[in-house]
Amino acid sequence: MTVPFDPNVLIGFATSDDAGVYKLRDDLALVQTVDFFTPVVDDPFDFGRIAAANALSDVYAMGGTPLTALNVAAYPMEKLGPDVLGRILAGGAATAAEAGVAILGGHTVEDDEPKYGMAVTGTVHPDRIVSNAGARPGDALVLTKPIGTGILASALKKGAIDEAQIAEAVRWMARLNAAASAAMLAAGAHAATDVTGFGLLGHAGEIARASDVRLRLSAKLVPVYELAREMLTRGIAPGGSRANAAEHATFTEFASGVSDADRLIFSDAQTSGGLLIAVPPDGLPRLLEALRASGDLDAVIGGVEPGTGIVVEA
Ligand code: CO
Ligand code: CO
Repeated sequence: MTVPFDPNVLIGFATSDDAGVYKLRDDLALVQTVDFFTPVVDDPFDFGRIAAANALSDVYAMGGTPLTALNVAAYPMEKLGPDVLGRILAGGAATAAEAGVAILGGHTVEDDEPKYGMAVTGTVHPDRIVSNAGARPGDALVLTKPIGTGILASALKKGAIDEAQIAEAVRWMARLNAAASAAMLAAGAHAATDVTGFGLLGHAGEIARASDVRLRLSAKLVPVYELAREMLTRGIAPGGSRANAAEHATFTEFASGVSDADRLIFSDAQTSGGLLIAVPPDGLPRLLEALRASGDLDAVIGGVEPGTGIVVEA
């Protein structure tokens, strides 16, 4: 797809960034993103919270402040009735309120399978955009939520586990990346993305490509849900994550000690994952301290070096 050149488009398709950025004035730009998907949990209210946190996350990943949102929903009204949709939207509204975001409206279409999410608009100072393209050799890589939610959602759908068993993952998925975003801005982060559908390696690969650097990750430092590992040993993993892993192998070099399970988990499609942040060494202590204070994860999982692609050490 070719798009006409517009000098006010500060972030468009080129860097596979989380959200688009459009300059309004020298000191003000719009950040826009949209995301919606099928339920990852059975509880409609939790699904709404998670979908909203996920949609808002792309603005936080750019270093922006979300202001307004529009609900986007697809729903089988005849089959499920109005109450469940009401619960989904109430969950989304609760998370929007927590973020200080006003929901201005939305649109629902009839569909066999429910889907929900938001189109979000925020603002950012054009000089303060945290894109995928700014990572530099010497930066540390920090991840702010555990991974493995794709495997857990898949296990839930198959009936291998129940919702009570993934309460911890639900709590993380419903959590806003607002505080983590504020922490990275204060620490002078060079680049960031949120870890979502392409998995840790997919989104790390986007940073490597956009920044023209190599990312070196340490498998043992990556925070993973224990239950997700357990599900993998029972052969439960979503098809999308297996497809991700095949693609990620084309730009990722694994040390021989990295297990097959880890290779798959690092490609597992995430819902409302944490921020993957590239931060210079002098900003790292400040970032970790702020993440600990806000209750986010403060996992240093690797670093940035000259080169291309990703290296995963055992
Ligand atoms: Co994103
Ligand atoms: Co997105």
